[in-house]
Amino acid sequence: MLNTFSLSPNMSAYGLGTTSYWSGRNQGLDACIHEAVEKYGISVLDTAEMYGNGRSEEALGKTIRDMNRETLFLVDKILPDNADEARFRNSLVNSLKRLKTDYLDLYLLHWRENADLSFVVPAMEAAVKEGLIRRWGVSNFDTHDLRDLLAVPGGANCFCNQIFYNVYERGCEYALVPLMKEHNILPMSYSSLGSNYYPHPDIHRIPPVMDVCRLGSLKPEALMLKWNVRHGFCTLFTTTSIQHLRDNLQEIPEDIYQRFEQVIEQEFPAPDHEYPLVKI
Ligand SMILES: NC(=O)c1ccc[n+]([C@@H]2O[C@H](COP(=O)([O-])OP(=O)(O)OC[C@H]3O[C@@H](n4cnc5c(N)ncnc54)[C@H](OP(=O)(O)O)[C@@H]3O)[C@@H](O)[C@H]2O)c1
Repeated sequence: MLNTFSLSPNMSAYGLGTTSYWSGRNQGLDACIHEAVEKYGISVLDTAEMYGNGRSEEALGKTIRDMNRETLFLVDKILPDNADEARFRNSLVNSLKRLKTDYLDLYLLHWRENADLSFVVPAMEAAVKEGLIRRWGVSNFDTHDLRDLLAVPGGANCFCNQIFYNVYERGCEYALVPLMKEHNILPMSYSSLGSNYYPHPDIHRIPPVMDVCRLGSLKPEALMLKWNVRHGFCTLFTTTSIQHLRDNLQEIPEDIYQRFEQVIEQEFPAPDHEYPLVKI
């Protein structure tokens, strides 16, 4: 399944997330976003109205205010509770105000819950027509959710499904990602380095992985993120550390990457059955 999806022309393969941008814990993200955009050409910046009740959007709006908007690919998400007739447009307009922008490149339904897809799809399509968003998609949609979405008129215009995916948790490869491929729905990964909210081994403690890292003087995080990209995902990560940013975006020689791919196949094999999508 390597390299089976193509990004939009102005989309970078990597993207930076902003979950806790509003909190004191995320001092340092400003500088990381600047360096990511200006030095590494990263355009994809991900946020959501949920993060700090809009405060992450506000913080991101401040960081990008002097940047050339056309070089950015802003991703934002609406809560399912707000995805109804009474609140959808207001939520979107308020997100735009907080980001101080006229449009989003991609607007996602954050998760399904009780959202009425027969409302959400035409609302998203109307927002595209109005020029408020360039494209729309969903997040945390499992196979059955996506089938329901595709059954709604216009549902096939869904551009992206943002989901939990990393070397430790490959369940979506079995049925969900093939379904997305069939319908040309781009996968975007979050928790691309794993998550404290989902137990997993520590890659630093896996000797064959660390042997590969030593060969290329690379951090395992760089290889993990590259692995997501090579599996066709637009790959989100967050860092508040310039050093981590640079480590994560290190150039990786192809032979070293191939060795990493082989080790991952041995240590964390692809799934052999379908099971529910992990969501955090
Ligand atoms: N759609 C959804 O439901 C959903 C859910 C979760 C997240 N997201 C989005 O995806 C983005 C990223 O996902 P995530 O928040 O789960 O975080 P993540 O990017 O998978 O992990 C972030 C953590 O990894 C650490 N890290 C990054 N590079 C590192 C390195 N080289 N060495 C050691 N540690 C490193 C960071 O710490 P340092 O700051 O110290 O580097 C941070 O604590 C979020 O910000 C959000 O925009 C979406």
